[in-house]
Amino acid sequence: MPVYIYQILHVAGIIMLFMGYGALLARSLANSDNTAVRKLGSMTSGLGLVFILIAGFGMISKLGHSFTAPWLIVKMLIWLALGGVIVLINRKPALAKPLWWSILGLGILAAVMVYYVRVQG
Ligand code: HEM
Repeated sequence: MPVYIYQILHVAGIIMLFMGYGALLARSLANSDNTAVRKLGSMTSGLGLVFILIAGFGMISKLGHSFTAPWLIVKMLIWLALGGVIVLINRKPALAKPLWWSILGLGILAAVMVYYVRVQG
Protein backbone atom coordinates (compact mmCIF):
# COMPACT_ATOMS: atom_id res chain seq x y z
CA MET A 1 0.00 0.00 0.00
CA PRO A 2 1.31 3.50 -0.76
CA VAL A 3 2.47 5.46 2.28
CA TYR A 4 -0.13 8.20 1.83
CA ILE A 5 -2.85 5.68 2.67
CA TYR A 6 -1.20 5.07 6.05
CA GLN A 7 -0.72 8.80 6.60
CA ILE A 8 -4.39 9.56 5.89
CA LEU A 9 -5.44 6.60 8.08
CA HIS A 10 -3.19 7.79 10.93
CA VAL A 11 -4.65 11.30 10.88
CA ALA A 12 -8.21 9.97 10.38
CA GLY A 13 -7.68 7.75 13.44
CA ILE A 14 -6.48 10.72 15.48
CA ILE A 15 -9.54 12.77 14.46
CA MET A 16 -11.84 9.86 15.36
CA LEU A 17 -10.19 9.23 18.73
CA PHE A 18 -10.46 12.87 19.80
CA MET A 19 -14.01 13.30 18.48
CA GLY A 20 -15.08 10.13 20.28
CA TYR A 21 -13.44 11.02 23.59
CA GLY A 22 -14.77 14.58 23.29
CA ALA A 23 -18.30 13.23 22.98
CA LEU A 24 -17.88 10.82 25.91
CA LEU A 25 -16.41 13.53 28.14
CA ALA A 26 -19.06 16.07 27.13
CA ARG A 27 -21.67 13.47 28.09
CA SER A 28 -20.12 13.21 31.56
CA LEU A 29 -19.84 16.99 31.88
CA ALA A 30 -23.53 17.34 30.98
CA ASN A 31 -24.44 14.70 33.61
CA SER A 32 -26.14 12.75 30.86
CA ASP A 33 -26.57 9.00 30.53
CA ASN A 34 -27.53 9.23 26.87
CA THR A 35 -26.75 5.80 25.40
CA ALA A 36 -26.69 6.95 21.75
CA VAL A 37 -23.83 9.37 22.55
CA ARG A 38 -22.04 6.70 24.56
CA LYS A 39 -22.24 4.18 21.70
CA LEU A 40 -21.16 6.69 19.05
CA GLY A 41 -18.30 7.99 21.19
CA SER A 42 -17.05 4.52 22.18
CA MET A 43 -17.22 3.16 18.64
CA THR A 44 -15.55 6.18 17.03
CA SER A 45 -12.73 6.39 19.59
CA GLY A 46 -12.13 2.61 19.57
CA LEU A 47 -11.89 2.45 15.78
CA GLY A 48 -9.67 5.53 15.82
CA LEU A 49 -7.20 3.85 18.20
CA VAL A 50 -6.98 0.81 15.93
CA PHE A 51 -6.43 2.99 12.82
CA ILE A 52 -3.69 5.01 14.56
CA LEU A 53 -1.85 1.82 15.53
CA ILE A 54 -2.10 0.02 12.17
CA ALA A 55 -1.18 3.15 10.23
CA GLY A 56 1.62 4.08 12.66
CA PHE A 57 3.34 0.73 12.22
CA GLY A 58 2.64 0.78 8.48
CA MET A 59 4.46 4.13 8.25
CA ILE A 60 7.39 2.88 10.35
CA SER A 61 8.08 0.09 7.86
CA LYS A 62 7.27 2.11 4.71
CA LEU A 63 9.33 5.12 5.75
CA GLY A 64 12.18 3.00 7.17
CA HIS A 65 12.06 4.40 10.71
CA SER A 66 13.64 2.49 13.59
CA PHE A 67 11.00 0.82 15.78
CA THR A 68 13.02 1.82 18.84
CA ALA A 69 13.55 5.51 17.99
CA PRO A 70 12.84 7.48 21.19
CA TRP A 71 10.17 9.70 19.53
CA LEU A 72 8.35 6.54 18.43
CA ILE A 73 8.62 4.84 21.84
CA VAL A 74 7.07 7.95 23.40
CA LYS A 75 4.27 7.87 20.80
CA MET A 76 3.58 4.19 21.55
CA LEU A 77 3.39 5.06 25.27
CA ILE A 78 1.03 7.93 24.45
CA TRP A 79 -1.10 5.49 22.44
CA LEU A 80 -1.21 3.11 25.45
CA ALA A 81 -2.16 5.98 27.77
CA LEU A 82 -4.86 7.20 25.37
CA GLY A 83 -6.25 3.66 25.11
CA GLY A 84 -6.18 3.07 28.86
CA VAL A 85 -7.84 6.36 29.74
CA ILE A 86 -11.20 5.02 28.48
CA VAL A 87 -11.47 3.22 31.83
CA LEU A 88 -11.34 6.57 33.68
CA ILE A 89 -13.66 8.24 31.15
CA ASN A 90 -16.27 5.53 31.74
CA ARG A 91 -15.85 4.99 35.47
CA LYS A 92 -14.94 8.44 36.82
CA PRO A 93 -17.29 11.05 35.29
CA ALA A 94 -16.22 13.46 38.05
CA LEU A 95 -12.75 13.56 36.45
CA ALA A 96 -14.12 14.61 33.03
CA LYS A 97 -12.69 18.12 33.12
CA PRO A 98 -9.10 17.23 34.09
CA LEU A 99 -9.25 14.31 31.63
CA TRP A 100 -10.38 16.70 28.87
CA TRP A 101 -7.20 18.78 29.23
CA SER A 102 -4.88 15.82 29.89
CA ILE A 103 -6.04 14.01 26.75
CA LEU A 104 -5.51 17.17 24.71
CA GLY A 105 -2.05 17.45 26.27
CA LEU A 106 -1.18 13.87 25.23
CA GLY A 107 -2.25 14.65 21.64
CA ILE A 108 -0.07 17.76 21.57
CA LEU A 109 2.85 15.78 23.01
CA ALA A 110 2.50 13.24 20.16
CA ALA A 111 2.68 16.12 17.63
CA VAL A 112 5.76 17.52 19.43
CA MET A 113 7.41 14.09 19.07
CA VAL A 114 6.86 14.11 15.30
CA TYR A 115 7.49 17.72 14.41
CA TYR A 116 10.12 18.69 17.01
CA VAL A 117 11.87 15.72 18.62
CA ARG A 118 12.11 13.63 15.42
CA VAL A 119 13.28 16.62 13.36
CA GLN A 120 15.93 17.56 15.95
CA GLY A 121 17.15 13.98 16.29
C1 HEM B 1 1.55 3.18 18.32
C2 HEM B 1 1.45 4.46 18.25
C3 HEM B 1 2.02 5.30 17.12
C4 HEM B 1 2.96 5.02 16.17
C5 HEM B 1 3.71 3.73 15.97
C6 HEM B 1 3.10 6.21 15.34
C7 HEM B 1 3.96 6.34 14.25
C8 HEM B 1 4.05 7.42 13.42
C9 HEM B 1 4.92 7.54 12.27
C10 HEM B 1 5.92 6.48 11.79
C11 HEM B 1 4.70 8.75 11.70
C12 HEM B 1 5.33 9.27 10.41
C13 HEM B 1 6.47 10.19 10.65
C14 HEM B 1 7.08 10.57 9.31
O1 HEM B 1 6.40 11.14 8.46
O2 HEM B 1 8.26 10.26 9.13
C15 HEM B 1 3.68 9.42 12.49
C16 HEM B 1 3.16 10.66 12.23
C17 HEM B 1 2.29 11.34 13.04
N1 HEM B 1 1.70 10.85 14.21
FE1 HEM B 1 1.93 9.01 14.97
N2 HEM B 1 2.25 7.18 15.80
C18 HEM B 1 1.57 6.66 16.89
C19 HEM B 1 0.64 7.31 17.65
C20 HEM B 1 0.23 8.59 17.47
C21 HEM B 1 -0.73 9.27 18.30
C22 HEM B 1 -1.45 8.65 19.49
C23 HEM B 1 -0.87 10.53 17.79
C24 HEM B 1 -1.72 11.66 18.26
C25 HEM B 1 -2.62 11.60 19.16
C26 HEM B 1 0.01 10.64 16.65
C27 HEM B 1 0.17 11.77 15.87
C28 HEM B 1 0.91 11.86 14.72
C29 HEM B 1 0.98 13.01 13.86
C30 HEM B 1 0.26 14.33 14.08
C31 HEM B 1 1.82 12.68 12.80
C32 HEM B 1 2.22 13.54 11.62
C33 HEM B 1 1.51 13.12 10.37
C34 HEM B 1 2.24 13.57 9.15
O3 HEM B 1 2.91 14.62 9.18
O4 HEM B 1 2.15 12.85 8.14
N3 HEM B 1 0.66 9.44 16.48
N4 HEM B 1 3.30 8.58 13.53
